[in-house]
Amino acid sequence: MATPIEVELEADKKYCWCTCGLSAKEPFCDGTHKTADTDKRSLHFQVDETKKVWLCTCKRTQTPPYCDGSHKDK
Ligand code: FES
Repeated sequence: MATPIEVELEADKKYCWCTCGLSAKEPFCDGTHKTADTDKRSLHFQVDETKKVWLCTCKRTQTPPYCDGSHKDK
């Protein structure tokens, strides 16, 4: 089962969250979707303050890129 990954995000830095699940740098995009058979694209986001968060890796969250507990659902 995919589980969330805790990361510290820096204020105003630009991040790309992987939406395809193929990245070797989960939870962040490494560009693999560009050469894979998928129409998924990375999700670009920023935070207003430096903080630790749990980012989703199961790709079922309803609040991307953040884990909402959906990985626990069967
Ligand atoms: S890892 Fe928790 S909702 Fe995806």
